[in-house]
Amino acid sequence: MDALALLRPLGAAALVAFAPLAASAQTRAAEPSGRVEELLSKMTLEEKIGQLNMVSIVPNVEPGYDRIVKGIAAGSVGSVYNVHGADDTRALQREAVENSRLKIPLFLALDVIHGYRTIFPTPLAQAASWDLAAMEKAERVAAREASASGINMIFAPMLDVSRDPRWGRGVEGIGESAWLGARIAEARVRGLQGSDLKERGNVVSCAKHFGANGAAAGGRDYTASDLSDRAVREIYMPPFEAATKAGARCFMAALNANDGVPSAANSHLIEEVLRKDWRFDGIVTSDFLAVNEIVNHGVAADQADASRIAINAGTDVDMESQAYVNRLPELVRSGAVSPARLDAAVRRVLTLKEDLGLFDDPYRGATPEGEKAALLTQANRDAAQDIAEKSLVLLKNEGGVLPFARDVKRVGLVGPLAEGQADTLGPWAARGVPPETSTLAKGLAERLGSSAELTVTAGGSTFGSSDDEIAAAVETARRSDVVVLAVGERFNQSGEAASRADLGLPGDQERLVRAVLAVGKPTAVVVFAGRPLVLTDIAVRAKALLYAWQPGTMGGLAIARTLMGDVAPVGRLPMTFPRAVGQIPTTHDQRPGGRPPETPEKPYTSSYSDEGHAPLFAFGYGLTYTSFHYGPPKLDRDAIKDGETAKVSVSIRNVGERPGVAMAQLYLRPEVAAVSQPAKVLRGFGRVELAPGETKTVTLPVSVADFSYWRTASDFVATPGPIRIMTGPNAGDTQDATLVYKP
Ligand code: NOJ
Repeated sequence: MDALALLRPLGAAALVAFAPLAASAQTRAAEPSGRVEELLSKMTLEEKIGQLNMVSIVPNVEPGYDRIVKGIAAGSVGSVYNVHGADDTRALQREAVENSRLKIPLFLALDVIHGYRTIFPTPLAQAASWDLAAMEKAERVAAREASASGINMIFAPMLDVSRDPRWGRGVEGIGESAWLGARIAEARVRGLQGSDLKERGNVVSCAKHFGANGAAAGGRDYTASDLSDRAVREIYMPPFEAATKAGARCFMAALNANDGVPSAANSHLIEEVLRKDWRFDGIVTSDFLAVNEIVNHGVAADQADASRIAINAGTDVDMESQAYVNRLPELVRSGAVSPARLDAAVRRVLTLKEDLGLFDDPYRGATPEGEKAALLTQANRDAAQDIAEKSLVLLKNEGGVLPFARDVKRVGLVGPLAEGQADTLGPWAARGVPPETSTLAKGLAERLGSSAELTVTAGGSTFGSSDDEIAAAVETARRSDVVVLAVGERFNQSGEAASRADLGLPGDQERLVRAVLAVGKPTAVVVFAGRPLVLTDIAVRAKALLYAWQPGTMGGLAIARTLMGDVAPVGRLPMTFPRAVGQIPTTHDQRPGGRPPETPEKPYTSSYSDEGHAPLFAFGYGLTYTSFHYGPPKLDRDAIKDGETAKVSVSIRNVGERPGVAMAQLYLRPEVAAVSQPAKVLRGFGRVELAPGETKTVTLPVSVADFSYWRTASDFVATPGPIRIMTGPNAGDTQDATLVYKP
């Protein structure tokens, strides 16, 4: 077959094959609204620009509250974020709809990344559940809780495909697979926006961080990336395209730059790809200070230049920079920004406010009493527990250490994460209240009740352990029948601005683990973390290893029930776990190169001289309490044409002694193509529940879109203007001169 015959954009077609559009996908009436046009005709230049101004305020915490309230009344603020609680959100909304000249309501936004008051597992942990319905439900709950407190826009889902575990923000995302990420994007947008945006309880979903934010070089937050157009299209765009197809009405342009173009200035991605190709009709906001930072990137000379570039690139809303309010009036008057461009941005903002129902129902039912009743309900906690249980990944269970015997009498819980409330919630815990958290200590105590004695010993902290602290932990292990080691990262060791170069257990935890394992009791190592850690030594020593991520409000009970066998683990890794930091990138979808790695390693192939090429745990890995035999893939046809769907069937047999859930994952690779293809790339999965001895078949679809890829071309240009010339004895010691390029 001619490989070129298959060229086509990956995204759109792939989505048709795998994700028939949800009935809930929301499309707006094509006709411009009379109300919006009438408002536009009445607005002054300053009022229009005010609608594009988004500011942060935490009432009674941050100074400047009064100034913002005055700004709202003056019509110079269109959106406020970080405000929460029905009293405070209502006060601000009232200011807009009662005291401003045109009475235009506000967007009230918040980072609700994995729950509002009921905190769900972190998004990366949720991704490990591979359970799209449970993720949709988690967002439903988050939207309803936030909405009850007056929030009408949520800065989520975070759809940055994250392929480097050093990057702290991977915890907020969807893992390394573009395909799985796209499925998660659909589920989460549906959960947040529902099927009718006007319905109370639904909120605007602001998908972020548009561009290729997850590609931060070296995993360092805010760092630029240099991706090929193909990598952008094939790896980073599919989740965003899926979000538009599912109806997301807001996008946030990232802080980072790719290929030298800051995301808020990337007219190609915003105007061509997002608006034209994908027909996105919502708003694009910048990330926090991203308009001002266009200057730091060196793509704008000053704030005015940055504002001109950002709005002309299609960034409608300026988050926090105050650049648009300060600079756009003059830019529009001078003609550097056309009135039509300004009106288009304002029209999009007003249209979304109208579609959200804000003009008729600005408070959307938020009252202090309603809010109280809506938060942390039993049903919400049940939903959080359900997905917490599903997100746990069993990485090792040698000799069937887990589940523990139900009649166990003495349980030792050791480790600095045993009682970490905030650490169990994870970063970006919105309005989660740490003392409301089921830590592992609380969860085990609740699960065991009076049937067993539970002893908890921290054994030090994540910063370090003294010999005495480790000795106390060892003593607890000696006096126990079974031991649970709760180790890992603190909540703030992942998240924004929390990249790490060393991915081992922080502090002295490895020493603690070795000492406790040496006691020789049946021990389960439970790891709390916001990313894949490097656990190479522990994975050899420990017989049972359970990855708990940061499991949220109900996390401790979910883990306890899993350890005791009330439920079996079903999670699968959404990111590859490296054996060593130096192996990164380790994603499952690497291109093989001309000398692909081999097992066992061979000289002059793509590998390291001091480490194997295989990761510690592969993408998609995860055990449960029984075992399965997987048959080979069987195809329903020999060949596939455009428009056809082939079926791949996998027969799975439960060869263990307990019932369990098996998962078949589908990967593929075109053997020959015009450009080298990944050795394998995920394109589907399916689950079955099997009784001991039972066999069932999982059938998965494949279409041409699944093995289509992106191609592009480029050229060289220079931009007129100043060029800094630097010379000196070394890169850290240079002097400058300026050369101006005037073609
Ligand atoms: C910066 C973060 O990058 C973004 O994810 C977040 O939504 C905004 N701050 C607002 O808090």
